Amino acid sequence: MCGIVGYIGQSDCKEILLHGLEKLEYRGYDSAGIAGIDHTGLHISKEKGRIADLRQIVVDSFHPFIGIGHTRWATHGAPSKKNAHPHQSSSKRFTLVHNGVIENYDLIKHSNLDHIHFISDTDTEVIVQLVEKYVEQGMYVEEAFRHSLKRLHGSYAIGLIDAQDSDTLYAAKNRSPLLVGLGDGFNVITSDAIAVLQITNQFLELKDQEVVILKKDRVIITDLYGEIQERKPFTTQLDPSDIDKGTYPHYMLKEIDEQPMVLRKIVQRYQDENGQLIIDREIREAMQKADRIYMIACGTSYHAGLVGKDYLEKFSGIPTEVHIASEFSYNLPLLSQNPLFILISQSGETADSRSVLVKVKEKGYPTLAITNVPDSTLSRESDCTLLLHAGPEIAVASTKAYTAQIAVLALLAVDTAIQKGLPLDFDIFSEFGKIATVMDGLIHNKEIIAKIALNYLQHTRNCFFIGRGLDYYVGLEGALKLKEISYIQCEGFAGGELKHGTIALIEEKTPVIVLVTQESVNLNIRGNAKEVAARGAHVCVIATENLTMDGDAYVLPKVYEPLSPLVSVIPLQLLAYYAALQRGCDVDKPRNLAKSVTVE
Ligand code: AGP
Repeated sequence: MCGIVGYIGQSDCKEILLHGLEKLEYRGYDSAGIAGIDHTGLHISKEKGRIADLRQIVVDSFHPFIGIGHTRWATHGAPSKKNAHPHQSSSKRFTLVHNGVIENYDLIKHSNLDHIHFISDTDTEVIVQLVEKYVEQGMYVEEAFRHSLKRLHGSYAIGLIDAQDSDTLYAAKNRSPLLVGLGDGFNVITSDAIAVLQITNQFLELKDQEVVILKKDRVIITDLYGEIQERKPFTTQLDPSDIDKGTYPHYMLKEIDEQPMVLRKIVQRYQDENGQLIIDREIREAMQKADRIYMIACGTSYHAGLVGKDYLEKFSGIPTEVHIASEFSYNLPLLSQNPLFILISQSGETADSRSVLVKVKEKGYPTLAITNVPDSTLSRESDCTLLLHAGPEIAVASTKAYTAQIAVLALLAVDTAIQKGLPLDFDIFSEFGKIATVMDGLIHNKEIIAKIALNYLQHTRNCFFIGRGLDYYVGLEGALKLKEISYIQCEGFAGGELKHGTIALIEEKTPVIVLVTQESVNLNIRGNAKEVAARGAHVCVIATENLTMDGDAYVLPKVYEPLSPLVSVIPLQLLAYYAALQRGCDVDKPRNLAKSVTVE
């Protein structure tokens, strides 16, 4: 969701900005723009649509040595050229890009800037106008910038340039991601390290309400009052090849295929040389103390949490609730005496989840982040972190992060059981080994799923996923995957619940994908499949080999049953992928969606 990149140095940075924006495309956007200063002055180009459209209008003769770029995911004002960033002050002296939401923009507009003619419908424009207003009142630019920031309520990552000073790039951060990248003779700002990985691997982390003054050969970080803040650089572990699509047509397919490798990597990272689990002492203590766990997440991460609840209750005996972050934040339920909050988030930047984190931290409750991104906001701000080790996930539709979340939650539950001396009838690492091999087989034979997609989904306008127990949770994820990238209207339902209303929607040929991996409810879900078949549904059963029957569409190899979601989700991810492909949809960048949802 909105991405920022900025550069100050001595080389022509046009390509660095455009390439950076392309690398940020995965975050989701609907317009983009760049602005920079070269020897002829300040130039700005912005366009609705893709970076490829922006490239068309950026003139060849523009060779900036300082510049800012932005991908916008519309919040205030429609996706349009007018609302695309960068935005400029009335005199055009100041040019600014912003990621986040300024909650009091309307108040600022009417109380401080009522004489200004605003060009866009955005909240962002007030920031650049405020800076100009304070400069006109006699403040230095740096002072005016800080003064403006103090007026803002909300989230921001900002890059600002001044047409009268091509030696300074200004930046600031509050609750939206922003990093400073360090180079030899240049410095950069970026929402994500991957956007500038081709020019640096050295970064400075920024804290909320910090301001940065970047020159080509130095960087100064201050707080909002101008106090210098010391910061040590870190080297990112990201490898440029991790973010390369290679020979794959889409990131999503690459990431589906990476799942066995990710599971093996999780084993490597969480197992010591004696075969024992490696979990921080702090996390173990938090798990021992907790009388109830509250898992907080959104979307796919929420679905992984539902599976994780099963593990935490069954293996480690801790009552667990799973909550949608955006609901929890404003409807806090009655909490237990010693709660532990587990925030599950691939990106570690999701604003809804962070909002819960801030609230529960204020109350002094312990927090654990389960995330894929080591230096992400949730990771930094939680008491402890468990990493997914899934590698960068670029496709908007989450796949490998989901299976990694389930695997890490299973490890956490197993470790807690071991620490409590509870009996377990399986060895998690050897089960993961077997599952990785099963995943390899499913991925190798993916064209079977491509045929199922053609057969069941090619012309449909809706689809249902049903299952019971863990299969219900996996069905929810299968439905989310399919709807977000193919735009087929679909829902996941608990098999037994259908007849209480939703079965009214079943018509001749409505596809119903039925998951059958849980022996204890095998007969029940088969009964539910018959109920919909009797009403004309086009039933597609995906069953484990020990539970399969004649007529099933797809057979899954048997694995340790509680861990079956790691396997049964793979055909559902592939089904979504092929259905989207067959309908000509943009698989990696579905409409209206953002990878990292940094607004509430
Ligand atoms: C999944 O395919 C999504 N696009 C989305 O639901 C995502 O899982 C959700 O926005 C949460 O993101 P997070 O895991 O980064 O917090």
